Amino acid sequence: MTVTIGALRERAPAETRVALVPEISGKLQTLGARVLLERNAGARAGFPDALYGEASWAEAAEVLSACDVLLGVQPPTLEQIGRVKDGAVLIGFMQPHARAAEVRALRERGLTSFAMELVPRISRAQSMDALSSQAAAAGYKAVLLAAGTLPKFMPMLTTAAGTIRPAQVLVIGAGVAGLQAIATAKRLGAVVEGYDVRAATREQVRSLGAKFVETGVSAEGAGGYARELTAAEKAQQQQVLEARIAAADAVISTAAVPGRPAPRIIPRAAIERMRPGSVLVDLAAEQGGNCELTRAGATVEHAGVQIIGPVNLPATLPYHASEMYARNLFNFLKPALAGGALQIDWSDEVFAQSCLTHGGVIKHEPTRQALEGST
Ligand code: NAI
Repeated sequence: MTVTIGALRERAPAETRVALVPEISGKLQTLGARVLLERNAGARAGFPDALYGEASWAEAAEVLSACDVLLGVQPPTLEQIGRVKDGAVLIGFMQPHARAAEVRALRERGLTSFAMELVPRISRAQSMDALSSQAAAAGYKAVLLAAGTLPKFMPMLTTAAGTIRPAQVLVIGAGVAGLQAIATAKRLGAVVEGYDVRAATREQVRSLGAKFVETGVSAEGAGGYARELTAAEKAQQQQVLEARIAAADAVISTAAVPGRPAPRIIPRAAIERMRPGSVLVDLAAEQGGNCELTRAGATVEHAGVQIIGPVNLPATLPYHASEMYARNLFNFLKPALAGGALQIDWSDEVFAQSCLTHGGVIKHEPTRQALEGST
């Protein structure tokens, strides 16, 4: 039976991305699937309906009741979960730690849901890694926000009116977003320093032409991620880092530890040591912020320093963020599409580990424990 795959226009007010772009719509049809979209689904991302070629169009209610597979960017709403077809498969960012009611509703309806944030970060799944593709967009945009806010040039300029010194940029946390921020700041001509607690990042930072800040603290945790620091390590890190923060015109902070609130590594005192006119873009704002003064979704001024706490930066680059995300979804889904039908291989760790709910059960153990207790 031909599988129908679809997407809705995202309902969250600031969400401009779309889960299906024309390129991927065409590829799904080539694989024998039927594509059904809500009218204007991609309009805000720069993909008007006319670009989708042979796709079918309907109102939201019909898309929900007709699709076997529903692709989304933001988690499905309770209303959508209530209206999708029996046995449907929902794929997208599910934010299971923050969406208890939605996870329960998915379980109650016996729906199969996959959370893109749970896709294992193994080599084979790199092309499905939506956390990385969207983090790259955020890291890039964070530097543009800093550049647009700084009362200075980023590059060195030699002009008839004299020489302008390049801006000093410090990037804290050299994961996917941080490395993209370093690369972007370098392209803009800034003098860039990078810092991370994982020693493996030293060479990555240097290979982008930035200087690595040595604090003598190394905190490799499980799965290649950072672990939380001990009190002594924090103090050691803090001393070196605060001096580098004080020297920077712009700080981009991206430090995160999976499943934990963002580490608080930029205290008020460090901001007060910065020059007036300097900028902090705190990409960890949504996880509580790397700076104690950060407010998610707001810009705070303290001691003449602008502290920007952006929310959902990938949605400010909706065209390319959607394109990358839709490709991630396609690469995820493709192995399950055989001859236009859907067949999930549960022995594949990518499907097994990213599954949130299936057959009336919460499959992701940390979410199950949080919602049902440890029994
Ligand atoms: P993330 O968003 O969880 O964290 C951002 C960065 O903050 C990390 O590099 C982390 O080490 C750093 N950090 C944490 N605590 C810190 C502190 N106190 N001070 C300074 N920095 C701190 O990480 P992201 O970007 O999602 O990925 C982290 C790593 O995961 C990658 O760099 C890579 O090693 C691995 N990864 C592997 C992939 C694959 O093999 N498919 C794909 C993507 C990431």
